[in-house]
Amino acid sequence: MNASGRQRHRPLLDSLTGLVACDDLPEALPADPMPVLTEWFEQARGNKRYDDFNAMALATAAPNGLPSVRIVLCKSIEASPPALVFYTSYSSRKGRELETNPNAAAVFYWSHEKRQARVEGAVVRTTTEESDDYFRTRPLLSRIGATVSAQSQVIESRQRLLADAIRLGARGALRGDIQRPSHWGGYRILIHSVELWSARSGRLHDRARWTRSHDASGWLVRRLGP
Ligand SMILES: Cc1cc2nc3c(=O)[nH]c(=O)nc-3n(C[C@H](O)[C@H](O)[C@H](O)COP(=O)(O)O)c2cc1C
Repeated sequence: MNASGRQRHRPLLDSLTGLVACDDLPEALPADPMPVLTEWFEQARGNKRYDDFNAMALATAAPNGLPSVRIVLCKSIEASPPALVFYTSYSSRKGRELETNPNAAAVFYWSHEKRQARVEGAVVRTTTEESDDYFRTRPLLSRIGATVSAQSQVIESRQRLLADAIRLGARGALRGDIQRPSHWGGYRILIHSVELWSARSGRLHDRARWTRSHDASGWLVRRLGP
């Protein structure tokens, strides 16, 4: 290509060079996606522009296969066995769906880093000790809220909900504690697949999917078309 051709095609050449230079997911994909997922999560935590860096859309399905989705906060990512933990009401819609169909999918979108991470897996409850420990770390008002809120149920009125919260708050303040209600606790998604997606110009995004091998001893990894 001569000099004027190079000048004309400079923006395209620059974009292509940028595409090659970015190595969010290296050409030789890592055998285990969990360190990368954890690193992306921690980088999002460090990016103060997020209100909720740990917000993820959580999809569950009723036994008849009909899906539902909502945002929850991921409280931890565990490497081995690979898992995500979130907390909710066991009697909520998601809780009822998970009790009859214990499978879930979740997705994070980190807009500032232009990354998406998807996970899928079987779901189990956290132990009561774990739920108690986490509950104790929550602010008083959140503990009151979890106790009085019949999440996903039809309620008489918002006024009634607030009156219950005030009554419980006063009683808890007198007793000096508010115990975790048995209807509230954690779930652990035991991850069997992870998909990491990183945006690139020209919609030539980078995307790879890891699936746990049948004996859970390792991962099968594949690069996917974006
Ligand atoms: C940013 C954000 C964070 C949320 N975090 C949680 C959470 O950690 N746990 C939870 O039960 N609901 C959380 N919610 C509320 C849920 O999106 C949802 O309204 C609620 O869990 C009831 O869902 P369900 O009826 O499908 O069970 C959050 C909502 C938003 C917007």
